[in-house]
Amino acid sequence: AINIKNLRGETGAITLDPGYKNTGSCESAITFLDGEKGILRYRGYSIEELAEKADFLEVVYLLIFGELPNKEQLTTFRQDIVAQSFVNEDMKKVIDGFPSTAHPMGMLSSLTSALIAFNPKSVNVSSEEDMYKAIVKLLAKFPTLAAWTLRKKETLPLENRDTNVGYVESLLKMMFQKPGEEYKFNPTVVDALDKLLILHADHEQNCSTSTVRIVGSSHAGLFASISAGVSALWGPLHGGANQAVIEMLEEIKADGGDTSKFIDKAKDKDDPFRLMGFGHRVYKNFDPRARIIKKAADEVLDALGVNDPILDIAKSLEKAALEDPYFVERKLYPNVDFYSGIIYRAMGIPTEMFTVMFAVGRLPGWIAQWREMRLGGEPIGRPRQVYVGEPLRSFKEVDNR
Ligand code: ACO
Repeated sequence: AINIKNLRGETGAITLDPGYKNTGSCESAITFLDGEKGILRYRGYSIEELAEKADFLEVVYLLIFGELPNKEQLTTFRQDIVAQSFVNEDMKKVIDGFPSTAHPMGMLSSLTSALIAFNPKSVNVSSEEDMYKAIVKLLAKFPTLAAWTLRKKETLPLENRDTNVGYVESLLKMMFQKPGEEYKFNPTVVDALDKLLILHADHEQNCSTSTVRIVGSSHAGLFASISAGVSALWGPLHGGANQAVIEMLEEIKADGGDTSKFIDKAKDKDDPFRLMGFGHRVYKNFDPRARIIKKAADEVLDALGVNDPILDIAKSLEKAALEDPYFVERKLYPNVDFYSGIIYRAMGIPTEMFTVMFAVGRLPGWIAQWREMRLGGEPIGRPRQVYVGEPLRSFKEVDNR
């Protein structure tokens, strides 16, 4: 805490905590995380058990409404989502306006924001019923927008969801179905994507979730808050790391596969390079999601018959880093994104789309946190600062500067 004078000249204390490394911004009943022990639970259920036994839509319901749905609740929830899945035709004009070089995350953030114009009632949520309607609309349309960012890049026609298949299946179909061809589901791909989405579904007050809560705290509306969350997730220090990991592993491969050179580079304080997919603000022993994903990467690549040399490079990089005092002392371990890109790649998902997949997974977490914040009547988020700039000075005319 630092003693400062406020605008009225009174002395008061302000906690200065750049990056909020030790500042709680809210009370939350959604996700429990113990960074020392490597524990992650959604609404009290362990991530290991949910990844193994639940399907993504059950986890979506659990996170947002607090309990696992019974059969009837799940059926109603699925039907409500299906009923809202059609995206306004004029949204296609919005996506038409992007250059094909646009990054899918930039398109996704803009499209999520544009959705407000086509659903203006989603902004004023004065009752739980209004909230439910806005939530279901977003859950229904967001995967379509995500898939469209890929179709735009690949100049494929923009399709709406096939309502006869499941949530995750429909996402894959919207992404990959070629005109005039039947899309064949591969159960290994469907299961792996379902698991990845569950593992990414919430992670308490990370950068994008805090963004969603703080934007939502001004009552800007769900879609605007989520659009801001997508932008926050895009950064390479956050969700963008899954793309950056593959690019780094490709670079190591192209360089002959010598991981030690890159480890030295990451240790060099004069070099901005960091080992992507390593380190975490909260996990200081291991990231439980990374353990599950590492195992899944082996299984999925085996099942798909994919032999990706990048997986071997990733494993040897992990081994070398975990034996290096620099990484051991700083408690830097592979995070969720170290192996996720390898699985996405094996599924045929282009690298630029990895963070979009993360966003589809994180959507229920963002929604749950936004809903909790609004129902809890939290005040507007407005951090303080410690001013270190110039004291009062007199204005000089431009000719005198
Ligand atoms: N490679 C090399 N050194 C690292 C790395 C890394 N990946 N991560 C942290 N360090 C070093 C820092 O240089 C610092 O060293 P110092 O004490 O000698 O100055 C020390 O470890 C602590 O790092 P901080 O940056 O203070 O840790 P912070 O909690 O602020 O950052 C973060 C966490 C952003 C995840 C960081 O570890 C990082 O940049 N990792 C690479 C990007 C990444 O994988 N992001 C995904 C995170 S998971 C997610 O968002 C889904």
